[in-house]
Amino acid sequence: MTPAVLPLTAAGSRKGNLILVNREHPLQGELIPDLVPLTGGWPDQHLDRTAARMLAAASQAVQGAGQILPVSGWRSQEEQQAIWDDTLQRQGTDFTAQYVARPGCSEHQTGLAVDLALSADTIDFIRPEFPYDGVCGNFRRVAARYGFIERYTADKQEMTGIAAEPWHFRYVGVPHARILTDAGICLEEYPAFLRQAPRVVRLENGRRVRVSYLPFNGTDTTRPAPGPCWQLSGTNEGGFILTEWEVQP
Ligand code: DAL
Ligand code: ZN
Repeated sequence: MTPAVLPLTAAGSRKGNLILVNREHPLQGELIPDLVPLTGGWPDQHLDRTAARMLAAASQAVQGAGQILPVSGWRSQEEQQAIWDDTLQRQGTDFTAQYVARPGCSEHQTGLAVDLALSADTIDFIRPEFPYDGVCGNFRRVAARYGFIERYTADKQEMTGIAAEPWHFRYVGVPHARILTDAGICLEEYPAFLRQAPRVVRLENGRRVRVSYLPFNGTDTTRPAPGPCWQLSGTNEGGFILTEWEVQP
């Protein structure tokens, strides 16, 4: 059952499906993602349980089995460090800084990000091909419906600090993917966007969802819950995002 109060805690402000993870906002504290193995891609890949379920559903919706391959899901700090070190050695500083997040600053470490490749004889692990047409284009068109955003686009490079990565998808949840995609903003812009005003989105099933930003002063506290059906995520930038689903009669 959803609790009747909103727990606003410092630890909670650094967790959740909407946390911002980038150079300015490294992961803080210990995250223990709820991981499950990914099927249909490279071996030994894991993803957050909900993200994995939604990825499978999105792939099924576009008949992507055997064509859309998850090549990198959750990464440990050690794995991100190894990828960073290896890329640095092979490709140099500029390339590495553009395409590999610094260890501790990669959203792969949350279990909410996945790199997808179009099946091919050889796949580049750092920059897999995931085109804008064919089955990959179809996946892009349904991604928001399943809670995913294309996280790194060329027009947002200044803000994300990462070059365009057409293969990297981040699970944020359905209403948020819809709002971010429709507004044409990246996750870095989301807290300020919601601070301007709460947003209401109508999902494809007709249900309305209200999304608002809650500032947090760093002292653990609670607030009355807005209703029976809500979800709270930290932002990892000092606040929370509250998602409230309309109760259906
Ligand atoms: N390629 C992305 C930025 C990462 O390393 O997390
Ligand atoms: Zn990635």
